[in-house]
Amino acid sequence: MQADSAVAVSMRGICKSFGTVQALDRVDMDISEGEIRALVGENGAGKTTLMTILYGMYRPDAGRISVWGRRTGRDWSPRQAIKARIGMLHQHFSLIPNHTVLENVLMPQLGWTHMRPRWHHHRAVLEGLCREYGFSFPLEARVESLSVGQQQQVEILKLLYQGAKLLILDEPTAVLTPQQTERLLELLLRLRGQGHSVVLITHKLNEAFAVADSITVLRKGRHVATVARKDSNPRDIAFMMVDREWSAAPDWELEAPEPGALLEVEDLVVGEEHQRPAVDRVSLVVRPREIVGVAGVAGNGQTELAEALVGIRRSRGGRIVIAGQDATSWSIARRLRAGLRFIPEDRHLHGMVGGLSLAENLVMDRCDRPPFSARGVLRHPVIRQAAAEAVERYGIRAPSPETPMMNLSGGNQQRAVLARALAGSPRVIVAHQPTRGLDFAATEYVRAELVRCAAQGVGVLVFSSELEELMLLCHRILVMYRGRFIGELGRDEFDAGTIGLLMTGQVPDGGRRDGQGTRDFGQPA
Ligand SMILES: Nc1ncnc2c1ncn2[C@@H]1O[C@H](COP(=O)(O)OP(=O)(O)O)[C@@H](O)[C@H]1O
Ligand SMILES: [Mg+2]
Repeated sequence: MQADSAVAVSMRGICKSFGTVQALDRVDMDISEGEIRALVGENGAGKTTLMTILYGMYRPDAGRISVWGRRTGRDWSPRQAIKARIGMLHQHFSLIPNHTVLENVLMPQLGWTHMRPRWHHHRAVLEGLCREYGFSFPLEARVESLSVGQQQQVEILKLLYQGAKLLILDEPTAVLTPQQTERLLELLLRLRGQGHSVVLITHKLNEAFAVADSITVLRKGRHVATVARKDSNPRDIAFMMVDREWSAAPDWELEAPEPGALLEVEDLVVGEEHQRPAVDRVSLVVRPREIVGVAGVAGNGQTELAEALVGIRRSRGGRIVIAGQDATSWSIARRLRAGLRFIPEDRHLHGMVGGLSLAENLVMDRCDRPPFSARGVLRHPVIRQAAAEAVERYGIRAPSPETPMMNLSGGNQQRAVLARALAGSPRVIVAHQPTRGLDFAATEYVRAELVRCAAQGVGVLVFSSELEELMLLCHRILVMYRGRFIGELGRDEFDAGTIGLLMTGQVPDGGRRDGQGTRDFGQPA
């Protein structure tokens, strides 16, 4: 028998729900010794949840796990997983920035008192590992002085030092440059060469095909397929990742857009100086009554684009025009007054202040103006009245308008964020993942509101990682990849397979192609 046929980990029938969201539905997965397994799927498919269950951070609602032939018990925890030689590199690093590499790697294992006596021994072991795997940072360097790529290597060194034989890496290349990515993938091959197993969570199919022996696809919490790399190709995998049931155009009646433009973006560039821009010369137009969708795998510049449009983030080049006026250098408040509204991706970060009441949150962005304040003094009765109306109109379920926002359910928080965004007279709405984390009813409600606003003449730009949502709502869909629009589809061309391919950077046969950048896309025909 080949070494790679021995099973390292076996998961059977894993189920996990968070509230009403079923994150995993009877998922099976085996991982062999000495293999690199790519675990792919769209955002929210359940990849992280499945692997954090294997790592003992969440307990599954049902299912069983065996690790090197032994069933895990009910007390399975990260501590036990580490003992069983499983290591996990999370999306957010867990290093202490002002400590040295040595301290970060050794401390969780040993504590200072135990470490001192055998300091030289531990050091020598680590130096050996660094040589073996080609890590070039000094062990005395403070972690904060290292590049992101090196910090990731420190995390991997820590896992290896803890004895990990199976390494789980959750979207490790999301934070890396192409060169760093190249090095990481080489490292994974070297780890496999030493007999390690690796689970690489990614939605970049080129990475999966560069190093993986086999590929597991999850979609909406279900295991779709596990295939050997040599028996597959990126096109087939992309098809498995996206929801085929939605490949026919939905028949939601949308009003025809009007001529003119409420939002125009020309050659917009967003990002740090001297780095590859997150948004790279993007152009688009949103007309009155039009709903334009932006599809893409997370991390391809959508957040930066949305935030630059509403003014949270500065642009580095190009122009933003709101209802005919150049708004490129306008403040957030000025854009708001011009009728630009934002439904943010992360309502906890940008959408609300949890400690303030529902009423205060509802008028937050307008409370410096009449009728909510007069001569610098807040007029609480007026605020309460407006809040009561919004609560009624948007069906926000709350004990009272004075209830702190953080005590409302996610669905009701989002209704409140929506109520505020749609108050006054919006002309352009930028909705970023407007239904993420909402239950069915709240999701339907938010979508219907966006369609209703468009029907009244508002221009809507929706960013969503859910193709189903975009295909339901939009007149046109633009697909964003590595900071650019790489394709555009009109409503009669909507096809989940095609959009899925574009999302992974592949231009389908016969599709529109644009070598220079974005100029062909984003403009209505
Ligand atoms: N701690 C949590 N609380 C509530 N919902 C969660 C939590 N973790 C994940 N989810 C939900 O479970 C689903 C799967 O999420 P996740 O495993 O993070 O997907 P992926 O890693 O494939 O993007 C998503 O709908 C997500 O919103
Ligand atoms: Mg994840």
